[in-house]
Order: sequence, then structure tokens, then C-alpha cells
Amino acid sequence: MEYVRLGNTGLKVSEYCIGSDNFGGQTTAEDSLRIMSAAFEGGVNFIDTANSYCDGLSEENVGRFVKTRRSEVVLATKGRSQVGLFPNDVGANKKYVMQAIDDSLKRLGTDYVDLYQIHAPDLTTPIEETVEAYNDVVRAGKARYIGVSNFSGPQLVEALWVQDKNGFSKFNSVQPRYNLLYREPERELFPVCLDQGLGVMVYSPQAGGFLLGKHRKFKAEMPTGGRYSDDFRAANFYKTTYWNEPAFDAMEQFIAVTEKYGVSPMALALKWVRTNPAVSACIVGARTLEQLQQNLLAWEEDVPNEAISEATAIGDHLWDTAPWKPQMHSTPRQRTMQGVG
Ligand SMILES: NC(=O)c1ccc[n+]([C@@H]2O[C@H](COP(=O)([O-])OP(=O)(O)OC[C@H]3O[C@@H](n4cnc5c(N)ncnc54)[C@H](OP(=O)(O)O)[C@@H]3O)[C@@H](O)[C@H]2O)c1
Repeated sequence: MEYVRLGNTGLKVSEYCIGSDNFGGQTTAEDSLRIMSAAFEGGVNFIDTANSYCDGLSEENVGRFVKTRRSEVVLATKGRSQVGLFPNDVGANKKYVMQAIDDSLKRLGTDYVDLYQIHAPDLTTPIEETVEAYNDVVRAGKARYIGVSNFSGPQLVEALWVQDKNGFSKFNSVQPRYNLLYREPERELFPVCLDQGLGVMVYSPQAGGFLLGKHRKFKAEMPTGGRYSDDFRAANFYKTTYWNEPAFDAMEQFIAVTEKYGVSPMALALKWVRTNPAVSACIVGARTLEQLQQNLLAWEEDVPNEAISEATAIGDHLWDTAPWKPQMHSTPRQRTMQGVG
């Protein structure tokens, strides 16, 4: 396992980060602990969770694991999604941010997180208020570093500018969705991160498992018991992007490339993401211990450059014709995200 600096901070994170949005939901508490233990044995030191995952159970399970090895773990969490019924149980306003970080710390059983992230932009709160609240979180010693998730390039630039102007702690990382079938961050976000020295931890590197080819037979009907099934809370978020004819075609071509070069789809999907110079770490999901073990093996697999180039050509074609492609060059405040997982 390789360790990299998160952007231009001195923090060293494993390139493989454990995703946890199923810990306490489709994955039991016991299996979640087994997955985290096996990943740590494999050299992973980086875990990402959020206050909204499985209604807080993900943070509780991660907290149980982290308890005995707090100093070894780089612990990242997020706040912003709706977690209660009241008007201020959602967002990135000061009241919510200060409450949400305390609630997360309680569930995680620690008095600080290494990275605290805004799960998504909050267009109902002035960015000045949000970044001041995040500055207060750092000053209070509740987070060592701060970051954003699901921000566009212009939204990030605006936030960094306001932080700079006010002498606030600046964002150190971003967490966008990124994989061969979804390449929006390449156009605006990644160039900003490279220029400003932010770390990039991408989620859905395997398109939620879609790139592995396992959904082929379900083209006409939805699978049960996994990420794309109706019992997974964020299933719609995944289906909206990948469950369409062009994405199925691209996936078939992708599988053909893996067969041609004798590599596993997982290895090529992960390697393709890691090859982008902006990417620091991949947040990889696993529902079972077996999946985690396969993913760690795939992480170390050799993938020829030719396979990566051929995969890129498939992604280029899909992206040129993608039905869900967002409009470019809009202003930060106009841009909204497509969904949050
Ligand atoms: N910031 C955000 O808004 C946001 C959004 C989404 C996710 N995330 C974070 O990123 C993490 C990773 O995202 P993701 O889960 O979409 O990433 P992913 O790694 O692309 O997909 C994970 C899914 O792929 C399938 N899979 C994984 N390994 C497999 C294997 N060996 N064999 C067969 N199938 C396999 C599983 O699907 P099945 O369950 O169907 O078997 C698993 O749930 C999440 O846990 C969460 O922490 C953040």
C-alpha cells in the first residue's frame, strides 16, 4: 500500500480509503468491523464516513473500530445531509455545523476527526457563514483538516477566496464522484485542486460496482440486495447516472478490454482512476468481507498502459454523448449537484 500526502498538507493517507456508507445498513455491524480490520491489515489507514450514513450507525461502527487505534487512523467524516425532522437538521449554516460536528464526535467516540467535510454545497447559506463555521471547528480542535464534497470548481474557488480574504482555515481536500463513466471533475474541479494544492479523494471509483459487469443480466430488471437495489437508500443516485443504454454499452466495451488484457474489471477501474494526476486517494466500497479482499488484491494487480488508454477512449466517447452531462461555465451559486450518497 502506498501512502500519499493529502494535497499540500503533511498528512499521509493510504491511497485506498475505506468507504462506509453501508456499515450498519446492508452490511452488519460485525461484518463492518471485519472489513475495517482486514483493510487495516492490508495497510489501509484511511476511513471515510458521514453523519447521515445509515442514520448515524456508520459513524458508530467506525467509532467502535477506531477506539483502540485512534492515532493510527486517518478518520474523515462529513455533515450537511438531512439528519432530523427540524428545519435546521440539514445544511451548512453555523448552528447546524456546530451541532453536527459534536454529534459526529459523540457517535465516533473521539474528541477530534482528522478531516471534516461539507457533504455537499448548501445554496441556502452564504458561503461566508459556512467557511466561518468550519474555521471555528478547526479552532476548537475538533478537526485537524477540512474539506468539501460534491462542490463544483467555481464553488470551490469562491470558498477558497472567502477563506483567504478572512484569514480562515482553508479547505485541504475535495471528495467528488469520479470514475470512467463519470468524468465531470476533470473539466473544472481537478485543475483547481492541482493549482491550489488540494487533495482529491474520489468516491464511486467502480461506479458503485456497475463497471464490474455484474449487472449485465439485470439490464431489464433491477437487482436485489446491493447498491442498485431499492433497499439501498441512495440507489436512485446511482441509477440516475449509470442505468441507461449508453452506460451499459460502455460497460460492455470496458469488460471486453479487461478480457483482452487479462486483468480484472476491478483492477482496471481502480487503476484508471488512480492514473489521473489530480487523484490522491480512492474511496472504495465493499458490502462484504469477500468483496474487500478481492478489491485489495485488485489494487495490487498489474495493469498495462494499453488497457488504460483503451478504457480512456471508451470513457471519452461516453462522456461526449452522456445524457446526464451538466452544463459548464455556470456561476457557483447556480450550480447544483445531481445527488448525494
Ligand atoms: N460524498 C458523497 O456524496 C458520496 C457518495 C457516494 C459514496 N461516497 C463514499 O464513497 C464510498 C464508496 O462509494 P461507492 O460505494 O459508490 O464506490 P464503489 O467502490 O464504486 O462501489 C462499491 C460497490 O461496488 C460493489 N463491489 C465492490 N467490490 C466488489 C467486488 N469485489 N465484487 C462485486 N461487487 C463489488 C458493491 O456493490 P453491491 O453492494 O451492489 O454488491 C459495493 O457496494 C462510500 O462507501 C461512501 O463512503 C460518498
